[in-house]
Amino acid sequence: MKIVLLGPPGSGKGTQANIICEKYNLPHISTGDIFRYNIKNETELGKKVKSYIDLGSLVPDEVTIDIVKDRLENADCEKGFVLDGFPRNLAQAKALSSFVTIDKAIMIDLSDEEIIRRLSGRRMCASCGNPTHVDWLVDGKCEKCGGEVMTRDDDKEEVVRARLEKQKLPQEVIDFYVNMGTFKKVEATDTKEKTFEKVDKILKGISKK
Ligand code: AP5
Ligand code: MG
Repeated sequence: MKIVLLGPPGSGKGTQANIICEKYNLPHISTGDIFRYNIKNETELGKKVKSYIDLGSLVPDEVTIDIVKDRLENADCEKGFVLDGFPRNLAQAKALSSFVTIDKAIMIDLSDEEIIRRLSGRRMCASCGNPTHVDWLVDGKCEKCGGEVMTRDDDKEEVVRARLEKQKLPQEVIDFYVNMGTFKKVEATDTKEKTFEKVDKILKGISKK
């Protein structure tokens, strides 16, 4: 099962990707997570991408596309994967289709107001990577694994607003997947469990083929 999760910043792509990957035992490939790991470890890649991420801008395609291509060549992706946050523009969508065939491109959609509300309370688990929320913590720790949580640098209000402004999913990406017959949209206004039920209906359609 080869799945792409599209959608605006903070709509719940990471949350849904985690649930899908757990249920279907697939690797979760998040370009944002790859960049943050490299920034934290001060690698060459991390140094290259930090300024873009700090400003809420997209990292240039020539950096991002090669990273995804390399990652998808790993043996663990042969049976499938969930790609979270890639592609974000038409050039990335076209590049992806040149090296892999996607079963479904699912857009996790949410209004700007709700995104701002969710991101202002988001915490990331430092142990298991679960994107959680202050309302869900148990004794201030990750509700899933009990790990310490931290705030993402790009969740400062001004960076969230910049991301929302600069990183709207272009209509041409949606049209690209609509034309391929693989596009689906899920409103993420419900709880994560209810949202997953809608996502899972789409996934079950693929596994029956
Ligand atoms: P990335 O890490 O992908 O950030 P993003 O797109 O801004 O998305 P987020 O990770 O912030 O949100 P999400 O949709 O995963 O939501 P989450 O599940 O956490 O990218 C970071 C940066 O890297 C980008 O800004 C860009 O610079 C660069 N980059 C990445 N990919 C790139 C690419 N392809 N090209 C170029 N540059 C790229 O949920 C959000 C919050 O809501 C959490 O608190 C969560 O607990 C909560 N929540 C989730 N679901 C629900 C629900 N149903 N009800 C209530 N709360 C919920
Ligand atoms: Mg994410």
